[in-house]
Amino acid sequence: MARDELLSPEPGPDDLEPALGGGMRAGLADGASGADLIGEEGGLRPRHLDDFVGQRELKEHLGIILEAARRRGQAVDHLLFAGPPGLGKTTLAGIVAAELEVGLHVTSGPALERAGDLAAILTRLGEGDVLFIDEIHRLSRNVEEVLYPAMEDFQLDIVLGKGPAARSIRLDLPRFTLVGATTRTGLITGPLRDRFGLVARLDYYDTEELQAIVVRAAGILGIDIDPAGAREVARRARGTPRIANRLLRRVRDFAEVRRHGGIDRSTAHEGLALFGVDDLGLDKVDRAVLTNLCQKFGGGPVGLGTLAISVGEAEETVEDVYEPFLIQQGLLMRTPRGRVATPAAWAHLGLVAPPSAPLAADPGPTLFDR
Ligand SMILES: Nc1ncnc2c1ncn2[C@@H]1O[C@H](COP(=O)(O)OP(=O)(O)OP(=O)(O)O)[C@@H](O)[C@H]1O
Ligand SMILES: [Mg+2]
Repeated sequence: MARDELLSPEPGPDDLEPALGGGMRAGLADGASGADLIGEEGGLRPRHLDDFVGQRELKEHLGIILEAARRRGQAVDHLLFAGPPGLGKTTLAGIVAAELEVGLHVTSGPALERAGDLAAILTRLGEGDVLFIDEIHRLSRNVEEVLYPAMEDFQLDIVLGKGPAARSIRLDLPRFTLVGATTRTGLITGPLRDRFGLVARLDYYDTEELQAIVVRAAGILGIDIDPAGAREVARRARGTPRIANRLLRRVRDFAEVRRHGGIDRSTAHEGLALFGVDDLGLDKVDRAVLTNLCQKFGGGPVGLGTLAISVGEAEETVEDVYEPFLIQQGLLMRTPRGRVATPAAWAHLGLVAPPSAPLAADPGPTLFDR
């Protein structure tokens, strides 16, 4: 398997991404059908809030919202989940539907090209159902306009016919819950954002949380891994559960083929090294961003566009997928004048920052300073 694929937080072929970019899928919430839809990775998706590891504050807020709605027997307020790929946004949408025992309908912003696409989905919703729209920041303006009255008043305005004969009718919709997911809150228009009852941001997971996720996944997959082995996998998972699960499967492959099956720290270490996962869990693009920043641009500051071109990625991808983790790790900084490498970045790459580099570690007093 290519290393890129191994480390990428993008969903792989064995991820559950039901009908992403496609139409919709109903009824995921009703137990068995969910299990059929999903491959191995999907089977790892927690289905209840209690099984969802980490994101403590978000879980607490969501727990209260769900419980209150349950007691009132009402649909939950619309929810927006934001954060980098692979942190659990789709999983949370499934959890909301499962906890409320309602149907889950899945679609995505780019899949809803015309207002009619959305209208077709809205009219098929059942009372209290969850409609999950992934990449909601990519909804077109006219689709978004259909969504406003649907979210606010549970009404759908449809225009029948064309030209002077056209007339508009208004349909009542069931009370549903819209769950939106986005990697870019900044691109969500104000009016859309304001219509969500909760806007929650998912953060990268710490090593303890990822270790718990690895242990849980190993239990489900029947993989024999000891705590130190799980920790080693967790440490290199780039703060991302999807990557943790993927690394676990590769280490399992390594253990089965090259060892006797069980995974301890040294097996995990060797397996990950074999697949070229770096000590911080940085992938090839992460490292290219840092290497270019340091070697081609003297540590910065350099503009996002220039940096993105230098690593052959779209600006949006660098900004959403790569930078957040590098910033979180203290390797990169966004400044008004551009991106800057921190001393930790130079150290991680095994490079010595030239004195001219911004933020270069203070070399201490020299002969001439006295
Ligand atoms: N908190 C968690 N606890 C346990 N497993 C998790 C958790 N969050 C995510 N996962 C695992 O990580 C995988 C990826 O999560 P998910 O698909 O929900 O991410 P996402 O935020 O929707 O990503 P994307 O932005 O790419 O759509 C899931 O299959 C699930 O197994
Ligand atoms: Mg998703």
